[in-house]
Amino acid sequence: MPDPTTKNWTVRNEDGSRRVLVTKQLPGTRWLSILTSADCRVEVCDSDDVLTNAEIVERIGDRCDGVIGQLTEDWGEELFGALAAAGGRAYSNYAVGYNNVDVDAATRAGIPVGNTPGVLTETTAEMAASLTLSAGRRIVEADRFMRGGRYEGWLPTMFLGQRFYGKTVGVMGCGRIGAAYGRMMVEGFKMNLVYYDLYPNERLEAYVAAYGEHLVANGEAPVTARRLETVDEVLAEADVVSIHTVLDESTHHLINAERLALMKDDAILVNTARGPVIDEAALVAHCRTHQDFKAGLDVFEDEPAMKPGLTELDNVTIVPHIASATTWTREGMATLAAANVAGLLQGLPVWDDVDVTPFLDGDVPPFVPSVVNPSVLNGIGGME
Ligand code: DGY
Repeated sequence: MPDPTTKNWTVRNEDGSRRVLVTKQLPGTRWLSILTSADCRVEVCDSDDVLTNAEIVERIGDRCDGVIGQLTEDWGEELFGALAAAGGRAYSNYAVGYNNVDVDAATRAGIPVGNTPGVLTETTAEMAASLTLSAGRRIVEADRFMRGGRYEGWLPTMFLGQRFYGKTVGVMGCGRIGAAYGRMMVEGFKMNLVYYDLYPNERLEAYVAAYGEHLVANGEAPVTARRLETVDEVLAEADVVSIHTVLDESTHHLINAERLALMKDDAILVNTARGPVIDEAALVAHCRTHQDFKAGLDVFEDEPAMKPGLTELDNVTIVPHIASATTWTREGMATLAAANVAGLLQGLPVWDDVDVTPFLDGDVPPFVPSVVNPSVLNGIGGME
């Protein structure tokens, strides 16, 4: 009798000489042709369940060249050890974030780790903007009201929300996605921007300054972008705060009860980065006692679970980690993850440009799009 808990895997290009596991079905077809063109036998798990380490180790078996894994999996010592022991030489996360990956463990095992930057930027920023608007204008709450058959006619005081025009948007972590979100809010709603980041984003500041001059030339008030010294200053000054940091020890519970207390009573807090950046239990408590405060969350501390009480709050808008969920982006992520694994297995050099669009159409460049521990490659030479 087959074990009923065993997941079904679909095998493509059965005779390929390199064995690559893909732990979830991926959208589009380009990713598969990249792997099969690199002579990979591709085994794709058909199940939507999160695979356990034991299931992944079992599937890696005695011989496995590479894996495309998911942010829901725990890629550490155990899995990289099993992959290295099976002769593996490539791993790619199907994500730009890699807090589920112990990069040091991968490096110790001699395995390069790929990720998928450059195709999530606008898509994720658009979701952060959507959550900002939904939370501030109470869209989901009003939708529930309509579906509940409670609309009995227009009223001057019904669902009053926030006006964004001319207010201040705060960006926590002003890398690619944070800067794209900031620009959307500045250009779309003429908001002033403040941000916190370890490094100045001079390009963004120059962009906003030029936009401010354009507004003045057209008889409007200017907009500004300023990097503030501390997280606390951004929280105190901004009307809207959007989180775009990585998750690591320095950002775990970056937004806690004390910091929520620094925010304006009617501020909006948006998170499309990683759940544990916010102390979610503290946020629930804050939203309970501050009815005018709003939150828009795409990510959760104990995903897929949510902290008790979160779903009962009307001033919180919640979506299931879908900030990157557009067809273009998710297919692009699949393409980059496949090009990472195929390129590493063929011993190709790493792409040295933040623009990854050449990988998305036409002939795939003979490069590995993105590796987060490139130092490991120095010790690997001559993989072919
Ligand atoms: C990522 O890529 O890190 C997102 O969270 C999922 O697309």
